[in-house]
Amino acid sequence: MLVLGIETSCDETAAAIVRDGREILSSVISSQIELHKPFGGVVPELASREHLEKIDPIVEQAFKEANVSLDEIEAVAVTQGPGLVGSLLVGVCYAKALAFGLDIPFIGVNHIEGHVFSVAFENPPTEFPALALIVSGGHTNIFYIPKAGSYKVVSRTRDDAAGEAFDKVAKMLGLDYPGGPIVERLAREGDAGKVKFPVAKISDGRPDFSFSGLKTGVSRYVRENNISPAAPDEVPSQAIKDLCASFQTTVVKSLVGTLEKLARRLEPKTLIVAGGVACNQALQTAMRKAAENLNLPVYFPSKHLSTDNAAMIAAAGNFHLEQGERANLQMTADVTMRLQNLENEDAQLRIKKVRYRL
Ligand code: KG4
Ligand code: ZN
Repeated sequence: MLVLGIETSCDETAAAIVRDGREILSSVISSQIELHKPFGGVVPELASREHLEKIDPIVEQAFKEANVSLDEIEAVAVTQGPGLVGSLLVGVCYAKALAFGLDIPFIGVNHIEGHVFSVAFENPPTEFPALALIVSGGHTNIFYIPKAGSYKVVSRTRDDAAGEAFDKVAKMLGLDYPGGPIVERLAREGDAGKVKFPVAKISDGRPDFSFSGLKTGVSRYVRENNISPAAPDEVPSQAIKDLCASFQTTVVKSLVGTLEKLARRLEPKTLIVAGGVACNQALQTAMRKAAENLNLPVYFPSKHLSTDNAAMIAAAGNFHLEQGERANLQMTADVTMRLQNLENEDAQLRIKKVRYRL
């Protein structure tokens, strides 16, 4: 089956054509990083306007690069949520109109499930049960996946997502947006033992994440040690490099430690690490080591497929289409869409007053 995937949930306009959920014929991404850079984060209104401008040429380019004509695709898969409402609506309306015009099925895909499927391309087939850490600018979750399409959330962040913490710490240190890749580069020249930040422990003992305390820790260290943020076009100081390394090590320790603990308890057959932060090499190295200790395979997406893309959306859509699922024309963007269809504990957690921001 040839599926056109469309992704517009945040600041990337992307289209891809994928065969049978495993073979990428084309994957085109137009990033809005430069547009949002001066603001240090994504400006929703600007993002939706840019998606509107880019969606048609990007889809056209995806067809051209795949050497496929419109009437050859058999279905359209589009990110339905979570994300920014204006951005999501551009993709959803476009996908609906195209599928209606071509008289082919279409399906709404959960963006986070898309990240889970991003490892479907350059890795052996996933063996279930799997344990997936999805770690990006918007999400930090661990899912237990007993079989394809079934998700139980076993860990989430109580406050910031890990990628968001990278971005905010970078901003504090006068570094560009998005902060993740820059912090990683500077951390290579820094001493991770210079500052000891503790890994946050959740008081009720749940295996959840918290990164806002670490962010405050970095901010306090900057203030108390009179570290000046890097000025534009200036080589960042050694103190900044050391802070980047110390911060990154703490995030990696938290992510790897929690995944390892849950893997020992839940005994999966495969580990998956995906999302924008998954291309961090320090994280990959530590995860590989943990997987080796656990005697489990760990799959990462390649760099192109770690950050937001439409190939992963086509792959997830392909799976649901194969299950016979179809969206109807009433389908619309779902800003707070959850990926949880197994033993949902939300009501119980609310009673216990456990609060999650994301
Ligand atoms: O998956 P993604 O493109 O968008 C979301 O769905 O959020 O992830 C973007 C996030 C940003 O916060 C960015 O700073 C982070 O991924 N990121 C990294 C690296 N590359 C991107 N974080 C740490 N190390 C990296 N190399
Ligand atoms: Zn994403």
